[in-house]
Formats: sequence, structure tokens, C-alpha cells
Amino acid sequence: MLILLMPQSTSWADDSPYTENRHRLALKQSMKTMTADQFAEFSQGRRLFEQMWVIAPSLDDDIDGLGPLYNSISCLQCHPANGRGHAPDKPEQKLDAMLVRLSQLDKKGNIITPHPVYGEQLQDKAVPSVKAEGHVSMAYRYFNVTLKDGTAVPMREPKVMLSQAAYTDFSDVLTSARIGPALIGMGFINAIPAEQIIANADPDDLNGDGISGRVNWIKDSMTGLTHIGRFGYKANVASLKAQVVNAFHGDLGITSSIHPKENCTLVQSDCLKALSGGEPELREAQLNAVTVYMQLLAIPKPLSIDNEQLLLGQQMFNKSNCLACHHAKFTTSKETKPQQLASTTISPYSDFLLHDMGEGLADGRPDQGATGREWRTTPLWAIGLSKIVNSHANYLHDGRARTLLEAILWHGGEAQASQQAVINMSSEQREALLNYLQRL
Ligand code: HEC
Ligand code: HEC
Repeated sequence: MLILLMPQSTSWADDSPYTENRHRLALKQSMKTMTADQFAEFSQGRRLFEQMWVIAPSLDDDIDGLGPLYNSISCLQCHPANGRGHAPDKPEQKLDAMLVRLSQLDKKGNIITPHPVYGEQLQDKAVPSVKAEGHVSMAYRYFNVTLKDGTAVPMREPKVMLSQAAYTDFSDVLTSARIGPALIGMGFINAIPAEQIIANADPDDLNGDGISGRVNWIKDSMTGLTHIGRFGYKANVASLKAQVVNAFHGDLGITSSIHPKENCTLVQSDCLKALSGGEPELREAQLNAVTVYMQLLAIPKPLSIDNEQLLLGQQMFNKSNCLACHHAKFTTSKETKPQQLASTTISPYSDFLLHDMGEGLADGRPDQGATGREWRTTPLWAIGLSKIVNSHANYLHDGRARTLLEAILWHGGEAQASQQAVINMSSEQREALLNYLQRL
């Protein structure tokens, strides 16, 4: 049975992925057409995504099992209204919408990931019987970049500071701070055929445009098969479902069929002894519901480019070669389930490939196939909604950029020529480009 939440004249293929809502809840809109079963699963998934999970044992068996070590009690905290998290502005502020991944540098200079004592990321919270792993804060160095027309743009460079180490000290730790990204079109990204992503890769820069782009090939630990990494800032997760279970496990401390053991390393004995909320804590139906929720969220419809200033902005975007990485068009595969995601042309403005973005953005921490200088091109769709959905929206992986212009000025490495093109623009051209970005 179909529940039509819109007049029947709306065509399924063209309109169902989009919402025209541009308000605070724009990223929470569902697709217009769903079956009754899908709607029930979507609603359950939304509840679980927004739910505050509790420590076991609890009367509500469905939502207990938080921790022993965790970053947050709900998905929503780092993805508010499905939008982006932010970085703290001052060292004394808490990190409440981001996390810090960890590796260890051993005495011979080898990098060990995950960190043998602290694991993949620092969990700064824990249930009462367990010690939180430590405390994180961010400090900044402030400076200006001067554009060709004389405008000075204030910038800030973050430094991650770890303290209150609960186990071994933090002196040999490599860090990678990351804000929660906006969750737009997750099901569509999952459904892009591998060939279309591979077609844009040019690892040895054979076309000589200074832009390479590499696939982050990910080996599935269960099947042994290799897949294209497409999720996360380093494209280090291959599927939406894997991303969802990793988030439950790493960020909330909730076990699942794929991660049946609590997120404790062998050294963390109190963590290993803590009470569990079930085996596993997340049931299969719950995992599927959260995945379906992510899949059936609508994509904000791009705004039309309907005046001269916006056309100039579009021209600036094209001429500055932004499209070389912020790739505009993919068509999802025919076989994709649910059907709403199949054979759809989408414009995420990302190639889902890794690029060397230069020393300025480097975190120095390799992650699966990605080096410490490489990042996955961040999709730009609906970026103009950031400040509407999340009043204090930040940009780039660690939220260092407070404006879109700051984000562009951090582009280096393969994107150096694009950055220089923006530096050289007249103020009219620059404003036009920034207004154009608001409409993607
Ligand atoms: C502590 C903050 C935090 C919490 C809590 C959190 N996330 Fe995330 N989420 C992130 C960060 C940071 C990333 C990027 C991860 C990376 O680069 O490895 C991310 C990435 C994602 C992505 C992939 C986005 C993309 O563009 O590739 C999905 C999907 C996602 N999270 C879903 C969830 C779900 C579902 C939950 C709850 C179970 C959750 N997250 C809880 C911080 C968080
Ligand atoms: C060589 C590939 C490449 C080119 C060329 C490029 N970008 Fe990017 N862009 C990236 C990557 C990779 C990131 C993520 C960097 C990070 O988070 O550290 C990014 C991030 C961004 C962001 C921040 C997105 C967010 O949600 O945080 C904006 C805005 C952006 N790019 C705009 C542009 C514009 C405008 C141009 C052209 C002037 C451009 N980019 C050219 C690869 C590129």
C-alpha cells in the first residue's frame, strides 16, 4: 500500500527525493512517497536516532546499553536536526558535537591505528563504574589571509589538546578532530555505482591538471571483499549500514550484530567488566530502522540560478575548477532498494575520492588507505542551509572555518589553483561565487 503524503500528480521519479522546505527542519523532511511499512520503519528509525540512550540495566530494555565508554548519549547531539556539528570556540568550552580519532606513534616511528590503549577515538564520557578516557579541548592560532583586492579574512588554526589521561599518557598520540557532518542523501550516496566513482579517479594525474583523486579501497573484515570507501571525512567506511553500526559502537557504546563486543581495549579492565544492555544491545530491526531513516530523508531541492549575479557565481565556480572535485552528477543504480533511491540523478558536489589538501588541512594521521594529508571531497549540496539548520555552523572536517570563504581559503595541495583563483577574484566575483554556493 502507498501512503501519498503529497497530491497524486507529483511524479515519483522526479520529485520524490526532494523537499522545498528551507527552514530549520529542512534536513529532517521525509521523502514525499513511502509505503505504510516504510513510514513505520522510518518513524522508528527517527526515534532511535533522536533517542537519549541510557545506562544498563534499565526498565526500558530497548534503549539501554549506553557505554561503558562513549562520546554522546544520542546521535542527534553531533548531527543536530541532521545538520552539522561545530567546534568549541575556546579551550574552556566542551566538545559537544565532534570527536577525536587517535593513533599511536611507537618508538620506531611507526603509526599504530587504532591506538592500542585508547582505541579508534577518545571517549571522554563513561558510565559511573568506569573512568572516562580523558578530556579534549581545542585552542586556536588566529591570523589573516589578505586577498588580492586588499580584503583581510580572519582565519583560525585549531590545535587539539588532550589532558586527564586515564590510562597511558597522551605524549605519543596522533589526533584527528572531526565535527559531525550534515546527513544529506546518505542512501543515494550508498547507491552510486562503483564505476561512476572510479571514473573520476586519476591517481597518477595522467590528465596533468594537478588534481589526482584516489579511491579509498576498504576491505570488509567479515567477507574479505574490497569496496569503495564513501562515508566519513576520509572515505573510510564502505556502506551506510556499516557507518550506522560504527556510530552506535564508537560514539554511543552500543553493541550490534556487527560489533558484538563492547568498545573497550584489553587494557581497560573496568570497561570490560561493566554491565551490558543485551547481546547485542542494538537489535537487527533497530539497526535496519535507523538505516531506513537515513535512506528516506529528502534532499533539499537546489534553488534556481535565475539572475546575473548567480550566473556570474556559477561561472566563477566552473572557472575555478571547483567541479574537478566537487563533482556535480551521478545516477544511482537501477537495482537499488528501496525503490525511491533507484535510477535517480543526484548532484552531491563531491567525487567521494581522496585528495591531498596540503599541509594546512593535514592531520598527519593515516586512516585505512588515506594518508594524513588526504580528505574525501565534502559534498556541497544544501550547504546554504547550514546556518539556518544549525545556528553556529562550522565548515571543514574539524569545524575550523566559520564562513564558506574561510573554508575555501584553507584549500591547498591539489586544490591550490582553485584557492588562488578565489584569492585573485574581484569582490563582485567573490560575492557572486559565495551566493551561488548558498543555492546548491
Ligand atoms: C560524538 C559525535 C557523533 C555522534 C554521537 C554520532 N556521530 Fe555520526 N558522525 C560523526 C563524525 C565526526 C562523522 C565523520 C566520521 C569520520 O570522518 O570518520 C560522522 C559521520 C556519520 C555518517 C556519515 C556521513 C558522511 O557524510 O559520510 C553517518 C551516516 C552518521 N555519522 C550517522 C550517525 C548515527 C546513526 C549516529 C548515532 C548512532 C551518529 N552518527 C552519532 C560524529 C558523531
Ligand atoms: C582537489 C579537490 C578540490 C577542489 C579543486 C576544491 N575542493 Fe572544496 N573541498 C575538497 C575537500 C577534500 C574538502 C574537505 C576538506 C576538509 O574538510 O579538510 C573540501 C571542502 C570544501 C568546503 C567545506 C564543506 C563543508 O561542508 O565543510 C567548501 C565550502 C568547498 N570545499 C568549496 C570549494 C570551492 C568553492 C572550490 C573552488 C573554488 C573548491 N572547493 C575546490 C576538495 C576540493
